[in-house]
Amino acid sequence: MFPTERPRRLRRTPAIRELVRETSLAPSDFIYPLFVRDGRGERRPVASMPGVFQFSPDTVLEEVDRAVARGIKSVLLFGIPAYKDARGSAALDPEGPVPAAVRRIKDRHPELVVMCDLCLCDYTDHGHCGLVTPAGEIDNDSSIDQLAQAAVVFAEAGADVIAPSDMMDGRVGAIRRRLDQNGRVGTLVMSYAAKYASSFYGPFREAAESAPAFGDRRSYQMDPGNAREALREVRLDVEEGADIVMVKPALPYLDVLRRVRDAVDLPVAAYQVSGEYSMIKAAAQRGWLSEPAVVLETLYAIRRAGADLILTYFAVDAAAWLDQA
Ligand code: PBG
Repeated sequence: MFPTERPRRLRRTPAIRELVRETSLAPSDFIYPLFVRDGRGERRPVASMPGVFQFSPDTVLEEVDRAVARGIKSVLLFGIPAYKDARGSAALDPEGPVPAAVRRIKDRHPELVVMCDLCLCDYTDHGHCGLVTPAGEIDNDSSIDQLAQAAVVFAEAGADVIAPSDMMDGRVGAIRRRLDQNGRVGTLVMSYAAKYASSFYGPFREAAESAPAFGDRRSYQMDPGNAREALREVRLDVEEGADIVMVKPALPYLDVLRRVRDAVDLPVAAYQVSGEYSMIKAAAQRGWLSEPAVVLETLYAIRRAGADLILTYFAVDAAAWLDQA
């Protein structure tokens, strides 16, 4: 018996395959994360993330130019401040690396969507994402006040989007209220809504110099075994006023991404995190995987699972590979 159904007809030529592809992928889907430290003329390689650098507010402009030339529409900034203390005071400094970089980037590329990651771990000497009580516990409610103040500093520097990644309860509402009170009703909040306590953040902590000095992040980031809880976190952030919700990491949590996509009508972002990047880089450096093909496959998978936007360190390279595909 010959088959009556022949799905292979739809795979016959590259043009047919492209015509019927269910998922699209474009540079405008990508958000490019960048690390900015104090200083001038800096371009420090991050050893565990080949191709990723810590820039200063002047040199980051060159990297942003490169991204814009490739069709990238958005960047996300992380700060590495000159000083750290228990309260993460440097996060409130309008002359800090992130506000300085935002002003320069917006000056040169007013149309680019500039996002600021908002967390205390890069700014605190203990490296936790919230403030810590003398007993060594995370002080949720004073943390969200500190975060809300920093959000206003970033917004006043010109950030289009504030992206809280701390996972404190109630921070989206606190940030939204504080932005509104300060006349920043147009500033968006993209919440790291379902952020897992993941070991895939290892290389990032070298890049951002933000590893916790004691303990771990499991009292605020989510347990990898939970998916229903992600829906609860997302619901709360939506109720508190988030404009975009994020799932993080991406590839190991595609099931969560799909469930979040089906549960909300807001844009959904996924973060392909540092460990996801470094694994592919390491295998590619050994000749074990073809980097362009594997990267585009992962990005299609993340889009297929439901992400509208993808934060990825591959953004600029992936845009170039899409051009060649
Ligand atoms: C800060 C923050 C982290 C990441 C984004 N924001 C690290 C962490 O929570 O420890 C991870 C990003 C990555 O691994 O690429 N809270």
